[in-house]
Amino acid sequence: MKNLFKIFALLMIVLFPVNAQFVFDPQKMDSIRKSTNEDYRLMLQMLGIDSTRPGPSGNPKDHNAANTNESKAATYTSLPDPLILNDGRKVKDAETWWKKRRPEIVEYFDREIYGRVPKNVPGVSWEIVKTKEDTIGNIPVVVKELLGHVDNSSFPSITVDIQLTLTIPADTKGPVPIAMEFGFILPPGFKLPEPPPGVPKDPNWQQLVLEKGWGYAILVPTSYQSDNGAGLTKGIIGLVNKGEHRKPDDWGALRAWAWGASRALDYFETDKSVNAKQVIIEGLSRYGKAAIVTMAYDQRFAIAFVGSSGAGGVKILRRNYGEQVENLASSSEYHWFAGNFIKYAGPLKSNDLPVDAHELAALCAPRPIFISSGSFEVEGGWVDAKGMFLGGAYASPIYELLGKKGLGTYDFPPIETALTNGEIAFRQHKGGHTTGPNWPEFLKWADKYLE
Ligand code: GCU
Repeated sequence: MKNLFKIFALLMIVLFPVNAQFVFDPQKMDSIRKSTNEDYRLMLQMLGIDSTRPGPSGNPKDHNAANTNESKAATYTSLPDPLILNDGRKVKDAETWWKKRRPEIVEYFDREIYGRVPKNVPGVSWEIVKTKEDTIGNIPVVVKELLGHVDNSSFPSITVDIQLTLTIPADTKGPVPIAMEFGFILPPGFKLPEPPPGVPKDPNWQQLVLEKGWGYAILVPTSYQSDNGAGLTKGIIGLVNKGEHRKPDDWGALRAWAWGASRALDYFETDKSVNAKQVIIEGLSRYGKAAIVTMAYDQRFAIAFVGSSGAGGVKILRRNYGEQVENLASSSEYHWFAGNFIKYAGPLKSNDLPVDAHELAALCAPRPIFISSGSFEVEGGWVDAKGMFLGGAYASPIYELLGKKGLGTYDFPPIETALTNGEIAFRQHKGGHTTGPNWPEFLKWADKYLE
């Protein structure tokens, strides 16, 4: 029963972004699959790669199931040191980090992993489409529905509008902190299914946020960049490329989604009810990856709450546990990344990556990040809770260099232990593929940093 719920929840997450209308249209899905395969084939051609290695299966019963045995996980031979410059010298002060080492790491992530945001991305003008009053829990709120219209004068056949809603307590006096989630806006009347008996219901995070006197926002990533390879010639990536296919170091969906979060933050800077210096970015799974990418690249974000981000997020990519680089580089997930990333499932291997996930976490320093995971029993091993913990642990020296506290340990803690004494926090809750049960601990920790 628990497993059925898990599969259903995963399906919802995987299907919704692809098909925002909640309609399973086989013809549409088939045409997406075909265009995706064509885009993937073209990228392999550009990279001069004939074939890629297949990744392991996410189904633990399969003969080629992903490894979930810890004794086989850490076979990698190299883990890049964020404190060693490309020329071999050691970073000993904050200035060398900011001026030399950080830009080196950013360049690797740009070129090899997430891709570059083009210089000529057009501007966005925000429109408040609707403002309404509502009550959430017992709290009166004001809800603004917004659209960010992207200037498409350079290629009018592609229209891009960023969907965002902002909910603020009605009786607030000054500007408030905002928790912004990468998510989807449910159609009126739609309710997510209740968990089966024995699995506790997630707390209502929106209500918890409002009770603190803060506001929240939902940003819909798929409103401006689809969650599939077929969409790479459309959305914001396609608009900038005038409908053409990507070059190998062009941005993938994760950076595009993060770009949209930055544009939402631009809007917050103009809204007097929002304290734009105190914006939290949160997401789960592929949107957990998007949350850490957003935080790493845009230093205006105050705090990140990174839910079950797994491979491509804060999980150490070199670990042979759960999802692997080969899965990410396959035709169903490569669109999240730069085309160049596919090389690591072809001629190269994860050991050859010039950077790993701890360095993505390090790019967030000194700002606070909370790394969240579900349990092995309910969520499964695919996301690799320990791999995500290590992503935070190995980023700690950079936080310490900048005068902050890192995770404080390299020993993976027992479940439900909140490591929340420093600017890198970690907690594995007992539930499944959700940030839900970690919201109360997250808010307690985040409260130290926000008004
Ligand atoms: C798949 C994928 C993960 C991703 C997840 C999700 O499981 O392999 O990398 O995080 O989907 O977003 O739901």
